[in-house]
Amino acid sequence: MASDLDQLFELLRFPSISTDSRRAGDVRACAGWLDAKCREFGLDSGLHETAMHPVVVARNEHREGLPTVLIYGHYDVQPVDPLELWDSDPFEPVVRDGRIWARGATDNKGQHFAHLLGVGKAMAEDGGLPVNLTLILEGEEEIGSPNLRPFLEQNRDFLACDVIAVSDTGMVAPGVPTMGYGLRGIACCEVVVRGPARDLHSGLFGGAVANPATAVARLTASLHEPDGRVAVEGFYDDVRPLEAWEREMWAKVPGVADGDFLEVTGSLALFGEPGYTAAEQTWARPTAEVNGIGGGYQGEGSKTVIPAQAMAKYSFRLVPDQDPADIMQKVRRHLERHAPPGVTVEVIGGHDGRPYIADPHSRFGKAAQGALRKAFDREPVLIREGGSIPIIEDFREVLGADTLLLGLALADAQIHSPNENFPVANFEAGIRLNRALLRELAGA
Ligand code: BES
Ligand code: ZN
Repeated sequence: MASDLDQLFELLRFPSISTDSRRAGDVRACAGWLDAKCREFGLDSGLHETAMHPVVVARNEHREGLPTVLIYGHYDVQPVDPLELWDSDPFEPVVRDGRIWARGATDNKGQHFAHLLGVGKAMAEDGGLPVNLTLILEGEEEIGSPNLRPFLEQNRDFLACDVIAVSDTGMVAPGVPTMGYGLRGIACCEVVVRGPARDLHSGLFGGAVANPATAVARLTASLHEPDGRVAVEGFYDDVRPLEAWEREMWAKVPGVADGDFLEVTGSLALFGEPGYTAAEQTWARPTAEVNGIGGGYQGEGSKTVIPAQAMAKYSFRLVPDQDPADIMQKVRRHLERHAPPGVTVEVIGGHDGRPYIADPHSRFGKAAQGALRKAFDREPVLIREGGSIPIIEDFREVLGADTLLLGLALADAQIHSPNENFPVANFEAGIRLNRALLRELAGA
């Protein structure tokens, strides 16, 4: 059989970009490959159709009396542009400096395939698994999992489980086992500001009509106070305050001091809500971000024009107990209230997801920490995550189970960016982690 790394490389060669409809065939082929791999490892596996990309569900034979563990991952990836900034082909993986370089290497193919390999090895070497296993690999995580919740609702009994394990989050530093017990939620929107009926000569009409690009800049600036706090009325109403034990614990976590954030981001200075460290700002405080802004002439030289319209894309990261629908309503109200005269403002809602938080010291939480300790031979750290995986809160709502976030993504993995990478050591640790995890969960 091909080596572990060769098998991962096969998986990484599929350009399974879920947002790009031209890649739908590649997304499907990737799912087919995983389905076949699960069978090869001795699992009962099938492809399940959704309104868009298929879900792979694989199981061992479930036996009475064993805990049922659901492992989730996603086989879709983000687009690769700007392609010219990659040092090698994003879909032709290579190992350089001990790291695997490819789109999806960390997010999430390398991480979920480590679990799958761990399962495959246990099946081959031990003749079976110490738990009932259900494996779900979806193809729509990077576009907000639009079809997975309905799939969960339709297959509640088939997917019933005691606990869920996911490796799709961060690891604070190389070799430091990291367990996440929280994720931020998200609410996305786009604003389109329209002014004159067509682009206008800015000499003939400038000064006499409102400029939509100026209006977008004003609206965007209105989202924050100068000190970095979010200025949307009522935005912080439902924010659960950070607990003292968390702040104390996080202060001791390696790799996440303010200086580390400064270094890994390559920013000139840190800037954010006053009174919190960078780790606290990203893990436990809500934010407003501008993900894109545009309008008017962007080409070479200058063109004296008043654009007929301008746009911006915003996303809001949310923490317990904020509700995405409620936040979006507050944002709409804010944008309406701050719309300058002479333009119309259309707010188009995008995808969203609820924040997630669990007790890291639950029975299964302790078992997961035991597995991390065994796989890395070091005491695990407990963190929350700044990123979002909306389906995790859906798992709790629909399946009634908590998720153990066993992240293997380093801060410099460059996920969603050019030159995404995953250390070979993390891949190997992920395989060990899975084997230890299933044993620890069986005894929990
Ligand atoms: N795996 C990431 C989320 C992540 C990465 C969490 C690192 C914590 C640490 C996931 O694939 C992702 O990118 N999620 C999106 C949300 C989605 C709705 C587009 C995100 O967080 O932007
Ligand atoms: Zn991602």
